[in-house]
Amino acid sequence: MGIEVVVEGLTKSFGRQSIWRDVTLTLPAGEVSVMLGPSGTGKTVFLKSLIGLLKPEQGRVLINGVDMVNSPERDIYETRKLFGLMFQDGALFGSMSLFDNIAFPLREHTRKKESEIRRIVMERIEIVGLLGAEGKLPGEISGGMRKRAGLARALVLDPQIVLCDEPDSGLDPVRTAYLSQLLIDLNAQIDATMLIVTHNLDIAATVPDNMGMLFRRELVTFGPREVLLTSEEPVVAQFLGGRREGPIGMSEEKDAATLAAEAGTAVADDARPRRIVPQLEPSPGLPPRRAVARRRERVMGMLDRLPPAARSAIRETYAHSAQAPTLPMPATGSGA
Ligand SMILES: Nc1ncnc2c1ncn2[C@@H]1O[C@H](COP(=O)(O)OP(=O)(O)OP(=O)(O)O)[C@@H](O)[C@H]1O
Ligand SMILES: [Mg+2]
Repeated sequence: MGIEVVVEGLTKSFGRQSIWRDVTLTLPAGEVSVMLGPSGTGKTVFLKSLIGLLKPEQGRVLINGVDMVNSPERDIYETRKLFGLMFQDGALFGSMSLFDNIAFPLREHTRKKESEIRRIVMERIEIVGLLGAEGKLPGEISGGMRKRAGLARALVLDPQIVLCDEPDSGLDPVRTAYLSQLLIDLNAQIDATMLIVTHNLDIAATVPDNMGMLFRRELVTFGPREVLLTSEEPVVAQFLGGRREGPIGMSEEKDAATLAAEAGTAVADDARPRRIVPQLEPSPGLPPRRAVARRRERVMGMLDRLPPAARSAIRETYAHSAQAPTLPMPATGSGA
């Protein structure tokens, strides 16, 4: 389970509006990746391009040898069945019960018997913690429950690649912490390759194996989580620090004059290295994530090519993880 997604030189525009250029990255099989980026930088467009719903003008998205940009539509359609997609807005049908919403892809794309559908749907409902709510309409439940229903629906076809578009938007901090744990637990249970688009710094700090960021029509960087979490790139540091000072402005990127003015008042905490919070582990009783060993080998193999701060952070990660106890949910911020 878990399939590698290779993105090569992807370039997308709408008419004269360029969204991003030359995006190249690989989502390693079975690993969890997060894509960050200010609003409007084309994160949702990127997800839609991965499943072939939008067509970039240049580049390729390779999955099992199928190019989701240029292959025949029939192959793209087949490959799309490997995906589970959780939309930014939940996208549930308002007149259908949660059960029917979650069953929808099974009824639409398979010829399974109703008894089999029931079994699968109830299993997914249990995974996302919605047992008992299956008869409710989307309008009768909270936003957080709707999010989880959207996630359950993304899971019914046994996806090998799971894309989540801002799964945390509209959730309170406690629900977001549960969601983070749910994403890691899910990865342990199904070993799917996962890409999560989020603005949430706690999710970014605790969930992914890899992280990337879109900004100014480019992929700033993509790699092991330690690379972004220790990055001194101004835009990355500003975003992860949640600060006003830096290249990102409220409505758009700041102009050069504003940036120059700010340069005189550089923030002091840029100087000290940021500490890395440990990544979440699966809840007790669940199997270990199979991607962990693969990731360790992969990352150790690229160590020489990484910046020094990332290198020592990775060494630290693995020095501790060798005999690490299972922490159900380390509180972010309190350190360890
Ligand atoms: N189908 C479309 N036709 C034309 N323009 C589009 C289309 N879809 C998106 N865009 C434009 O592409 C840009 C990026 O949109 P996108 O929704 O991907 O941003 P985003 O990074 O997901 O933002 P947010 O964090 O607010 O969700 C926006 O300027 C948007 O208006
Ligand atoms: Mg979006």
